[in-house]
Amino acid sequence: MTEAILLVGGKGTRLRPLTVNTPKPMIPAAGVPFLTHQLARARAAGVEHVVMATSYLAEVFEPYFGDGSALGLSLEYVTEEEPLGTGGAIRNVASRLHSGPDDPVLVFNGDILTGLDIRALVAAHGSSGADVSLHLTRVDDPRAFGLVPTDPTGRVSAFLEKPQTPEEIVTDQINAGAYVFRRSVIDTIPAGRPVSVERETFPELLASGAHLQGMVDSTYWLDLGTPQAFVRGSADLVLGRAPSPAVPGRCGDRLVLPTARVAPDAKLTGGTVVGEDAVIGAGARITGSTILAGAVVEAGAVVTDSLVGAGATVGARTTLTEAVIGDGATVGPDNELRAGARVWCDTELPPRAIRFSSDE
Ligand code: GDD
Ligand code: MG
Repeated sequence: MTEAILLVGGKGTRLRPLTVNTPKPMIPAAGVPFLTHQLARARAAGVEHVVMATSYLAEVFEPYFGDGSALGLSLEYVTEEEPLGTGGAIRNVASRLHSGPDDPVLVFNGDILTGLDIRALVAAHGSSGADVSLHLTRVDDPRAFGLVPTDPTGRVSAFLEKPQTPEEIVTDQINAGAYVFRRSVIDTIPAGRPVSVERETFPELLASGAHLQGMVDSTYWLDLGTPQAFVRGSADLVLGRAPSPAVPGRCGDRLVLPTARVAPDAKLTGGTVVGEDAVIGAGARITGSTILAGAVVEAGAVVTDSLVGAGATVGARTTLTEAVIGDGATVGPDNELRAGARVWCDTELPPRAIRFSSDE
């Protein structure tokens, strides 16, 4: 039985203001906290014991997931007093693992939506005899990730986190944020201080001749670290493009949670999700967007590829395109917000305060 560590302690800075009140893994995607999808996929791959490494807003995980039995898992929580980084977080939970020294232990970044065949990664780890195996994926622009060049057999030759210079961009293969560690390797990470697995542990293991094995897998993969990616990921879950056993309902053009109220002539498309108790007014058109619990989208509003936070209000005829509205904020009627706009939590934007067009 493989066990897993989930890294869920990051501050989610790039997702603000969504992460002001909620840690990134707990923001709802397709109607449930994002982490639910990762946990359900791990369970479906045979994982039974998961240790969550928490730090930022650590207190919200356990009240929601409890002992994990609702998901068929045994869940434990370990909170860092000071953030220990990815490697420090892995080391910090080692005492909770049941695995023997040679057993495989899965480690997941807590913000990845992927169709990775987890069993295949564990099986490849076993057959290659590697110390650590890494899921790799190919992306057009690898600069925001860890670059992982491999030799023709898949053996990792270097690990270059967030390359700064063009010379460092030696491959389009990146670390996809899922690892299998031989348990004894986890015990060699220094304890009690911050350690980055990407900047310290992997480069040092390579320098000491350890065997790191990459498995390139080109199924669905998305890091939900930015608002646009998060909204995309939620829509892809609703549309069924990203696989998860935890989507609460049938996949399709939209997902409306049972207590939401949607006007009969409102148009919801492109994987839009409408959360609990949210209200969608007459003639509103919402495409590829996430409307969180208790939010109100008034009549005639047009919302595209955007996220409307819990309890927020989008005024009548307001247009949102690639915008994020923080929890509890009010965007008055007839506003026009675009590309990358972030309205902070509880802000009040008056009617017709921001426009891109000059029409009346
Ligand atoms: N417990 C704990 N403590 N968790 C942490 C800490 C910490 O101090 N710092 C970060 N994490 C968690 C985050 O919550 C997230 O789930 C994961 O570690 C990765 O952190 P991110 O902040 O999302 O890193 P990134 O997206 O910039 O880069 C990482 O992911 C890429 C793939 O998406 C790296 O692993 C890259 O190499 C990789 O390509
Ligand atoms: Mg990330």
